[in-house]
Amino acid sequence: MTNLANWTPDSWRAKPAKQMPTYLDAAKAAEVEARLGKMPPLVFAGEARKLKKKLATVAAGEAFLFMGGDCAESFAEFSANNIRDTFRMILQMAVVLTFGGGIPVVKVGRMAGQFAKPRSDDTETRDGVTLPSYRGDIINGLDFTAESRRHDPERMMQVYNQSAATLNLLRAFVQGGYADLHRVHQWNLDFVARGLQGERYRNLANRIDDTLEFMAACNITAETSAQIRETEFYTSHEALLLPYEQALTRIDSTSGDWYDVSAHMLWIGERTRQPDGAHVEFLRGVKNPIGLKCGPKMATDDLMRLVEVLNPANEPGRLTLIARMGDDKIATALAPLLRATKAAGRVEVWCSDPMHGNTHVSASGYKTREFSRILTEVRGFFDVCRAEGVHPGGVHLEMTGQEVTECVGGAAAVTDAGLAARYETHCDPRLNATQALELAFLIADYLKQGRKAAPEI
Ligand code: PEP
Ligand code: CO
Repeated sequence: MTNLANWTPDSWRAKPAKQMPTYLDAAKAAEVEARLGKMPPLVFAGEARKLKKKLATVAAGEAFLFMGGDCAESFAEFSANNIRDTFRMILQMAVVLTFGGGIPVVKVGRMAGQFAKPRSDDTETRDGVTLPSYRGDIINGLDFTAESRRHDPERMMQVYNQSAATLNLLRAFVQGGYADLHRVHQWNLDFVARGLQGERYRNLANRIDDTLEFMAACNITAETSAQIRETEFYTSHEALLLPYEQALTRIDSTSGDWYDVSAHMLWIGERTRQPDGAHVEFLRGVKNPIGLKCGPKMATDDLMRLVEVLNPANEPGRLTLIARMGDDKIATALAPLLRATKAAGRVEVWCSDPMHGNTHVSASGYKTREFSRILTEVRGFFDVCRAEGVHPGGVHLEMTGQEVTECVGGAAAVTDAGLAARYETHCDPRLNATQALELAFLIADYLKQGRKAAPEI
């Protein structure tokens, strides 16, 4: 039993908590939390431990972490097709990274629980009317009406149910043959297949087919090898809505430790990473692998304090640091942080989120991101990690399997004027499937260059 003596699942309640909802009916909120507390776990502690082991291989420079999915899942966009398309997009990108980059990829979806959103302002004003900001479907609705924007605790129950159904489908995909490498061609979505990225992918898939034929001739087949037949897939979300996370935090009977069983991995957002705040307090006590977003204003001292609090034993795989600096700041802001963790002998994974530092409002009024700036940040991340002798451990993307028009640029050539065509996100702009695949090919190139640059043993 290694849990902390001065920690309980509700010890966060004594700390200042940012970004929390205001439930006017406190008794109702308590009743929903009690009901949630009786629901079965969504993931198992043993699975979270397995992911932690995988992340330890990333920390050792032997694997690459790929995190991706919606900025915010929603009730309206919930469908089997959407889940399947995001999942196959992740499979497709992971296979590009594994085959093109020559490194094992740990796959983590921003799925089955990514519903709570931090906001810069508590309220939003339109045409002289001021209402509470939208905070994600787990808290209130996107429609701009007083009723929809009311913070409603019952929504936590709907999130739990939707997450359970999503995970059920994902588990079937993972083990039921969908992820079999022999299906690598079928992961190409129709509209992607028609373009240049689709063609590049087809070429890669043909090479994988040849490899599988060769392996079959050596008697390594889907029947003999689970690695060909199935995959491993994990879920993650921002642990923002602490009453929900607390209700799903349980003692694991095998280890006697506390785990947050709402997802395998939970992360702390840029706006809630105060060392004395509620979110850090909550996550320091659960044994899951956790993430910490690091923005351009993070001081070296803050980071060192946080890694001490969140990973006191310097355990590999426990903590992933997710840099989200912006394309113009990545080199200058990240280098001192890398130097500090390295000098202290820390084992944390460093991962790049090239999305959240590169958001702007377009001339046509849409919150968007330029594909070229996302690329620049990823490139900068690889460069600065390599210059500092740190493994560029992964990427964290907001993306979807749909052909949306939310980020501008890329070979898909979404223009500012074209954003209106299919702008569907509930929060931040996502890469569409074509843009995401293009990015995967570029990252695979960086990974390959790194392998070539590595000294021969
Ligand atoms: C997010 O990942 O959706 C997010 C809000 O990120 P950050 O905390 O880095 O701004
Ligand atoms: Co986002």
